[in-house]
Amino acid sequence: MTAAAPVVIEARELSRTYQLGRGPFRKTAEVKALVGASFVLERGHTLAVVGESGCGKSTLARVVTMIETPTAGSLVVDGMDVTAAHGESARVLRLAVQIVFQDPYGSLNPRQRVGQILEEPLVINTDQNAETRRAAAIEMLTRVGLRPEHYDRYPHMFSGGQRQRIAIARALMTRPKVLVLDEPVSALDVSIQAQVLNILTELQSEFGLAYLFISHDLSVVRHMADEVLVMYLGRPVEHATRDDIFAEPLHPYSRALLSATPVADPTARKERIRLKGELPSPLAPPPGCAFHPRCPFANERCRREVPALRIEGSPLAVACHGVREGRIPS
Ligand SMILES: Nc1ncnc2c1ncn2[C@@H]1O[C@H](COP(=O)(O)OP(=O)(O)OP(=O)(O)O)[C@@H](O)[C@H]1O
Ligand SMILES: [Mg+2]
Repeated sequence: MTAAAPVVIEARELSRTYQLGRGPFRKTAEVKALVGASFVLERGHTLAVVGESGCGKSTLARVVTMIETPTAGSLVVDGMDVTAAHGESARVLRLAVQIVFQDPYGSLNPRQRVGQILEEPLVINTDQNAETRRAAAIEMLTRVGLRPEHYDRYPHMFSGGQRQRIAIARALMTRPKVLVLDEPVSALDVSIQAQVLNILTELQSEFGLAYLFISHDLSVVRHMADEVLVMYLGRPVEHATRDDIFAEPLHPYSRALLSATPVADPTARKERIRLKGELPSPLAPPPGCAFHPRCPFANERCRREVPALRIEGSPLAVACHGVREGRIPS
């Protein structure tokens, strides 16, 4: 038996609420962008986060990357509690988790040369001399499939796929343990997407990286993920292994979401589940299970009581009364 990989992220009931001011005479409104996200992420593993626009994926990304603090819950990174870390230890923790955004155009400073972009994290966080930094930047360029002569060029001289490689290289300069990838290939041509995904897979095994991989493209998720977390209106509703969830999603929302993906096996019959109704406003989520107005199996209990994300057996969990009670047909 092989030992389990070390846990690099442990999130417990992570939540993030935003207060929205709505003018001097109106009460402030609250958006629960993220509610009760719990998961562990191990070295070398990929947890994908999926769900419709506005379900809280990027909010989770920002909280895990420590760009924002959670309004509730706890986050342990590399064995250290983030909320308890201050000063030097907080700085070290931040280095352990780096993020790559969707937009490779907006995320690179157009006035800096590639070399400067890659070396900046080293200038800020290490006392390496110029020669060492340059060697490290050039080495990282080649690891992401670029060439040493790219060191002196500006971002506008690169294609979208190449710029995303630069963004990935920059994120890796301080040797993080975790990369949060928020829609990392969504802005790229399909033909380029596969190249960038392959680079990510290579880098993951080379550096033992853990990935929190956010994507709305389920075929990409199927290719990349070890586990999948499905979110709806800020809450995780199902957490399962990649193979389990693509073979048999349990939550009615996961089923609807996954039934919209093309299947690799054309002989496999899959009934397309269409969701009724619109996605509710996050300012006024429905009571009980937030999915109940759109769920074909909802009953009185679903309208009243928020279902817990119960652990069905590691790492499987589903937040659905109907699944628990066996009243949802398979
Ligand atoms: N800084 C903020 N202030 C107020 N509300 C916010 C803020 N950031 C996010 N929200 C709200 O929180 C909810 C979740 O947003 P988030 O960006 O996390 O969604 P997402 O799943 O990443 O969506 P997408 O797929 O479109 O990127 C949305 O309702 C959004 O409007
Ligand atoms: Mg987002």
